[in-house]
This record gives sequence, structure tokens and C-alpha cells, in this order.
Amino acid sequence: SVNSNCSVSRRELLRAGTGLAVASAMLWPRLSLAAAASDYEIAPGPGRAFLKGEQGQSTSVWAYNTRIPGPEVRIRQGQPVRIVVENRLEEDTTVHWHGIRLPNAMDGVPGLTQPPIKPGERFVYKFTPPDAGTFWYHPHANSLQQLGRGLAGALIIEEPEPVHVDRDVLWVLADWRLDSDGKIAPGFGNPMEAAMSGRVGNSVTLNGSVPEDQSVRAGERVRLRLINVSLARIMALRFEGHTPVIVAVDGQPCDPHEPKGGRLLLGPAMRLDLVIDMQGESGKRYAVIDDFYDGLAYELTNLAYASQSPLRKNPLNAPLRLPRNPLPVPDLPNAERHEMVLQGGMPSMRDMMGGGKMQGMSRMSGGMAGHGPAIWSINGTSMTGDGHDAEIPPLITLKQGRSHFITMRNETAWWHPMHLHGFSFRVINRNGAPVPHNQWADTVLLAPKDTVDIAFVADNPGDWMLHCHVTDHQTAGLMTVIRVA
Ligand code: C2O
Ligand code: CU
Ligand code: CU
Repeated sequence: SVNSNCSVSRRELLRAGTGLAVASAMLWPRLSLAAAASDYEIAPGPGRAFLKGEQGQSTSVWAYNTRIPGPEVRIRQGQPVRIVVENRLEEDTTVHWHGIRLPNAMDGVPGLTQPPIKPGERFVYKFTPPDAGTFWYHPHANSLQQLGRGLAGALIIEEPEPVHVDRDVLWVLADWRLDSDGKIAPGFGNPMEAAMSGRVGNSVTLNGSVPEDQSVRAGERVRLRLINVSLARIMALRFEGHTPVIVAVDGQPCDPHEPKGGRLLLGPAMRLDLVIDMQGESGKRYAVIDDFYDGLAYELTNLAYASQSPLRKNPLNAPLRLPRNPLPVPDLPNAERHEMVLQGGMPSMRDMMGGGKMQGMSRMSGGMAGHGPAIWSINGTSMTGDGHDAEIPPLITLKQGRSHFITMRNETAWWHPMHLHGFSFRVINRNGAPVPHNQWADTVLLAPKDTVDIAFVADNPGDWMLHCHVTDHQTAGLMTVIRVA
């Protein structure tokens, strides 16, 4: 049992914690029995997790099936899945299947694609994932708190033919703001933070706990799936002594390539699939560093090599390229052109010195609906909250079946991982230069003042959210609806 016996190691406590989660899941026979192979039952509700890394200290969280992260949903490409969601929270929720190309009615946006799931109610999501890859799920109601208190889980769509690696490893990376006694700090939606980087926390977890060393074996080839489920934290990871190869971005295969400068940029909601040949020395440890924020570098974890003989002498000789997904390829010369201008937030020092105005902040009047202050805008309009503001008409209507080319201009002084629901788009240019490696994404990270061109075929009808995935930015206006009809 879990008690404050000081000789119990954290590892044992964690194991005991998992045991508790299993035990409480068994109290709900409906939730775990009688499910067919591709059926899942997911219940958002209260839970506890070990986020502080201190013995015996657990934090009260909101969790799917009492687990942080939520249960891993793993299905085969092209196989129908049915997921029953039972709301055990004390407030409305929904589940959004981030990155999956699915029918609009299954997209999980309250007030836009479905009514909210009320406390005690159920909603059944059914879809057939067309693409293999690394995806995730999260609520789309009261997002700041529901995501910030822990509701997130991995959604893995398997290739029909398994990829040739020794191990398939998943790291769900989450960021928490904890106060000194290990509780989730209050104060979600602080407008000052929302006008800057958003609620960046002070404690990063890997698969739901404070990262311990990750054991690896010399010579093995690992596919490492990274998912950043943070509210606001952007990561820039470096694997000391290793050369990861990026094989997929946001679940979508790309030309295998090494990251620029060895740094893997991962904004909120973004995923990377890496292949790493473990070419370090048996018995040694190699740090994984996140140094995105100046002066705030930290060691996320270590790759700890077993003192075992290498699995093989030379790296595995198998192709790295993943099979491509059935994405419709946009016809660029004939694509319709659109522009989206991101404005608002605090100006940078340089902008203020140069006499730049607080653009955005002052001109925001049209189309803001009451969920809190509108601090950000897209083309001069601000949708706030979680996307249920039906009073605001879609920003643009895209002709169904046509190719569309969208230029996104970030006129702000802040980073924005811009996400489009229901589609994967090709990332064509960044600041006028072609983006190499044939990249597709559902979330594209714009640095301050970046301009990015994306393109896709609008083959999926419906009203789809487009928003920044820094949740404070989303709920403070950096959000809109795109209609495909
Ligand atoms: Cu992860 Cu509206 O999205
Ligand atoms: Cu999404
Ligand atoms: Cu943003």
C-alpha cells in the first residue's frame, strides 16, 4: 500500500500508484470489460499523480481513467474505432482527436461540432483513421484548466506493416505549474501571461512522472515518438552524443533528416517521430537537454546505457523512410490564395523602441465574444474561449475539393504553434525559403515575425477550428473558424 514509509523508493511508489489506478478502474466494470478489440472507454475525471518526484507526495489532477497521461489509444490505420467517453468531471467536456482527419461531427469542439458532454453523460466517437502516425487527444472545453490539470493522452495509429526498429518508445511530455506544496498552481488565464508566452510551468513530466533515466542498450535502434502536451511550453531538445533522425512530423512521414543544429523544436501539440541508433558506450549516461528558453536550460532525462554487450556492432541496415499516408497533394499553381495575419500581445522591446504601435490590442473590436479579454487577433477578429462562439462567422470559406495556399504572417513578438483541425497541410515556405524534407503538419510553429506558407486540399467539409495551441493565446483571441463547403 502507499504510505509515507520513507524507505520506499519513488520507483516503488510509482508502481504502487499505477496499482491504485488499476484498482479504481476495476470499480467501474462497464469501463474496462466487454470492449471489443477497437473499442475504448475513456472517462475524464479526478485523479492523482506523482508530479513532484518527492516521496509520497502526490498531486490532485484531472485525468482520463485516473491516469496521467490518459490510456494510450493504439489502433491500426484504416480500422474503424469506437470510443465511449463518459464525463466524470464536474463540468462540461469533449474530446478532440488532434491531427486525425475525421468527419467534422467527430472533431470534439463543443458548440461547433457537437453539444458539450455534460457531467455524467456519455458521447460515442466513431471514426476510421486514414493516416498512420503519432497523434493525441485532449478536451476542447475549458481548455486552459482541463489541459493544464492533466487531461491528455496519446493516440497511435499503427502502420499496417511494422517499421523495422528494435523498440517503439513513446514520450508524452507535459509541463505543470506547481506551487511549493506540489499542488497545481491556481491563476489560469492570467491576461498578462496570455499577452506573452502563456502559462509556462515549472515541472516537466515524461509519461506522467518526473523523468528518471531512460534505459537503452548499445546497438539498438529505437523509434521515439515525442508528443508535447504542454499548455504553453516550447521545447528544443538535444540528445548529447546521439544523432536522431526525424522520420515524421505531426504523425506525417517526411524525408528522413537530421534536425538543424541537432535541436528538435517541439511546440505545444506538436509531435516528432525519431529514429535513434544507440551508438553510445555501454554503462554510460547521455543527457537529453531542453534549452528553448534563454538561460533556462534543464536536463529532461538521460539515456542510460545498460552495461550489457551491444545488441549489434554496426547500426541496423534497414530503411528509415516510413510508408506515405494517403494525403491529397495540393495543386500549387492552381491553388486559391489566402492570407492570415496574426497580431496582438505585448510588443517586444525592439518594437517599442522603433515606435511600433501595440497593434492588435487597440483595434480589436469587431467580432469579439465574451469569454475573457481579446489580446490576440487573426485578420483583425478575435474568437475567445474554446471555439463555441457561434455568433462569429467563419473567417474564410474554402471551396471543397480545391487546393488552398495560405500565407500566415506572425506580426507579433511571440511564438505561435498554429493548428488546423481536420487536415494535414504541406509546409511549403518559411520566410520565403522552401521548407525541405517534404514536410506535412497539423501544427506549424511560427517564430516572432515569421511568415509561413502552407497548402492543402480542402477535401473534408465542415467548420474547422484554426488556433494557436499555446492555450492562453487560443482562449484570448488567437483562434478562428474555417469553413469548407
Ligand atoms: Cu489540439 Cu483545437 O486542438
Ligand atoms: Cu486539433
Ligand atoms: Cu500563440
